[in-house]
Amino acid sequence: MTITGSGSATPDQFLSNNDLALMVDTSDEWIKARTGIGKRHLASSSVSLSQLSAQAASKALEMSGLAPNDLDLILLATSSPDDLFGSACQVQSLIGASRAVAFDLTAACSGFVFALVTAAQYIRTGSYRNVLVIGADILSRWVDWNDRGTCILFGDGAGAIVCQATETGDRLLGFEMCSDGSQNSSLNLGYQGLEKSLNTKAEITQGNYQFITMNGREVYRFAVAKVPEVIEKALYHAGLSAADLDWLLLHQANQRIIDAVADRLKITSEKVISNVAEYGNTSAASIPIALDEAIRQRKVKDGDIIATSGFGAGLSWGSAIIQWGK
Ligand code: ACO
Repeated sequence: MTITGSGSATPDQFLSNNDLALMVDTSDEWIKARTGIGKRHLASSSVSLSQLSAQAASKALEMSGLAPNDLDLILLATSSPDDLFGSACQVQSLIGASRAVAFDLTAACSGFVFALVTAAQYIRTGSYRNVLVIGADILSRWVDWNDRGTCILFGDGAGAIVCQATETGDRLLGFEMCSDGSQNSSLNLGYQGLEKSLNTKAEITQGNYQFITMNGREVYRFAVAKVPEVIEKALYHAGLSAADLDWLLLHQANQRIIDAVADRLKITSEKVISNVAEYGNTSAASIPIALDEAIRQRKVKDGDIIATSGFGAGLSWGSAIIQWGK
């Protein structure tokens, strides 16, 4: 498989750190020093996850030169769909990809990497030739805007890539994916229901999803320990080492995590792609948004090798080593 197009979309409205400091007890200095985040773009009531995804998807299709009807499969990595039954079909309809089968894939901030690897499996087996992979989240819907420990981190957005079958060398060079449910309580967006008796024999629950809860220190420790390891494993599968990389592109959770991982892999800062200052943590969208920006700025050039890594709730983490260029 090869990646032939990318696109991204973020809401116009944003909150700066100073705006947030008027809402909770925090400051621009604290947020910048601890996270590197300067602002976060937030979806208003007139912007849906499906619409943001469709905007990103259309741009990726345009770059790839494919028509919507050329798509065989659409994978939407998200933890915040407009519809719990899935939003991928809505995206399929919005972009007019009527031939494509579409479904959601949930793996929090690892979602984009997991979906990219999933797309590659369909392509490698010959089942599908043209696959659209989208990472999109509107976590502002699920953030407690009174909790200074989490509300400073998250923003909204969508990014997409087009993956195609190729006869001239597979550009997913290696990957590794991991899960550890025993640490699930470190980061949750959990359902909570109230008991309700339907009759004397049947009792169910009905309720809602609660705000995001997070043990920030645990998640930080987990990311700094596991992300370098999973990248090393993916590099090993690719027959490469960190010295062969042109770019390091991690899930944009926190600049300190990005710097610590780069440091451990001995990758210099010029090779690190980061836009966390502009968007904060956009969950499944962060890698494809940053990739799209780097491609459109012509930072990433034909033949460049990029180590991507997603990590987050589950807990889940993974890495895909990709080579850009048709
Ligand atoms: N402004 C000012 N002070 C704050 C803020 C804030 N926004 N938030 C916490 N503090 C205070 C705390 O109350 C604490 O005060 P105390 O010492 O008086 O108790 C102090 O700052 C230090 O708090 P810590 O939580 O230890 O701060 P830390 O340096 O760990 O930074 C942070 C917190 C930024 C959340 C960090 O732990 C982090 O980035 N963790 C990773 C989180 C992450 O990336 N999550 C997303 C994963 S991806 C996904 O799947 C969604």
